[in-house]
Amino acid sequence: MPVGPQPSGPRPQRPRRSCLAVPGSSAKMLAKAQGLPADQVFLDLEDSVAPLAKPDARKNVVAALNDGDWSGKTRVVRVNDWTTPWTYRDVVEVVEGAGQHLDAVMLPKVQSADQVVALDLLLTQIERSLGLVGASIGIEAQIENARGLVAVDAVAAASPRLETVVFGPADFMASINMKSLVVGEQPPGYDVGDAYHYILMRILMAARTYDLQAIDGPYLQIRDVEGFRRVAGRSAALGFDGKWVLHPGQIEAANEVFSPRQQDYEHAEAILEAYEHATSEAGGMRGAVMLGEEMIDEASRKMALVVAAKGRAAGLTRPPPAGPPE
Ligand code: GLV
Ligand code: MG
Repeated sequence: MPVGPQPSGPRPQRPRRSCLAVPGSSAKMLAKAQGLPADQVFLDLEDSVAPLAKPDARKNVVAALNDGDWSGKTRVVRVNDWTTPWTYRDVVEVVEGAGQHLDAVMLPKVQSADQVVALDLLLTQIERSLGLVGASIGIEAQIENARGLVAVDAVAAASPRLETVVFGPADFMASINMKSLVVGEQPPGYDVGDAYHYILMRILMAARTYDLQAIDGPYLQIRDVEGFRRVAGRSAALGFDGKWVLHPGQIEAANEVFSPRQQDYEHAEAILEAYEHATSEAGGMRGAVMLGEEMIDEASRKMALVVAAKGRAAGLTRPPPAGPPE
């Protein structure tokens, strides 16, 4: 039987507009998170859990996955990174204990493709030993330092289990010595652009090259929802699929910012409809036509497909056609 990462077919495209961080050490927050409207929850065993609390946090996370009601949510556990003494035990305890109730494992501070391959192999072993045939738990790779960003193309290609590449801005800022402690906001003294643009684009290109989702990290000023919207709006505008949320107050904003606006959704559906007609025999088999004041062609169809798919996934619908005037 092959031991290396095996292709398992295309990964499911799970909803991830809002990815809620839930400390695994807090039974109260693990219970509360189940009732919140986040697309994804990630139960954390890493930086929101103190070293001495990690063994108990693993148990809490297993119990919450098995006994909780997470219906409609993407369920992820963030383990500790491979430079710590905790990673293998995190993965073994959580996947052996609750693998059937888990969609993906998030690996933080990824620095090389090997680290993703190591997690893939460990997951494969556990799935085989449990007889979880075809269960195929996914992987989320968090890019949080210069080394990880430089390796991001190889990281994104490292395993067929990969579903997302995630930006970790707080650790990243520390890693490159950025002169600021305010995550997501521009460092004072930098007034010629967006200090995060290169990093976000590098992550987005790697993710899109391998058909993965690109997820933006946290905004720590949890009471400043307008600030959250502003920063989330930037990564959403570039094409990111979602962003972490640390507080219930950020969830609605994330779900909104990472969904198309109703008018854009309707416009996308109108382009698809008009272009399908134009290219058909009945429509004259034309590849470039006018839709109102706008020239549309095959590239317009591709852009419209993305917006329409995101809108449909977010539950948007077109208004019914207006009836004849009274
Ligand atoms: C998240 O893990 C971050 O470091 O921003
Ligand atoms: Mg981090």
